[in-house]
Amino acid sequence: MEIRLKVNGEWKTIDVSSKETLLQVLREKLHLMGTKEGCGKGECGACTVILDGRPVPSCIVIAATIDGSEVVTVEGLTPNEGLNPIQNGLIEAGGVQCGFCTPGFVVSGTDFFKKKDKFTISELKRALSGNLCRCTGYKKILDGMLIAAKKMGKEIKDE
Ligand code: FES
Ligand code: FES
Repeated sequence: MEIRLKVNGEWKTIDVSSKETLLQVLREKLHLMGTKEGCGKGECGACTVILDGRPVPSCIVIAATIDGSEVVTVEGLTPNEGLNPIQNGLIEAGGVQCGFCTPGFVVSGTDFFKKKDKFTISELKRALSGNLCRCTGYKKILDGMLIAAKKMGKEIKDE
C-alpha cells in the first residue's frame, strides 16, 4: 500500500508492505541512516524518532498504520550549519563513545527541552529512560544534556 508521511518537513509518498516498520522505511527507503537499529524490540531507544509530537521507538511502529503522520528524525534536528545544542553538549561532556545510542538520546533530549523551560533532574532522567547506552555509564550523557540546557536558557527546578 501507499502511505504519505511528512518526514523532516517534507511530504513523501512511500510504498510499504503490511509488516514494514517505520525504522525500515526510514533507513531502507528514505536512506535516513541516523536512526539506528539496536534491539528491534522497542527496548533500547536507538531507533527513537518523534512521531506526531512524541518520541517513539520506530522499530515497533508499523508504517502502514501511520499514514498522514509527521516524523522527525535526528537528521531533522540538525541545523544546516552545524550541530544542535544537545549534540554539542554531548561532545563537550564526552557523552559519546561508540555513538550508537547517540541519535536516540539526541532525539529524546531535544523533544524534552522543546517541551520544558523548567525541569527537574528526575524529569530529565525519566525522559531519557527509554534510551540505553552500553558504553558511557550515563553520567556524561546527563552532563551533556545539562550543558545543552544551560546554553538554551533552561532552568533546573528543585525536586
Ligand atoms: S531498535 Fe528500536 S528500541 Fe531498540
Ligand atoms: S556511546 Fe556506545 S552505546 Fe552509548
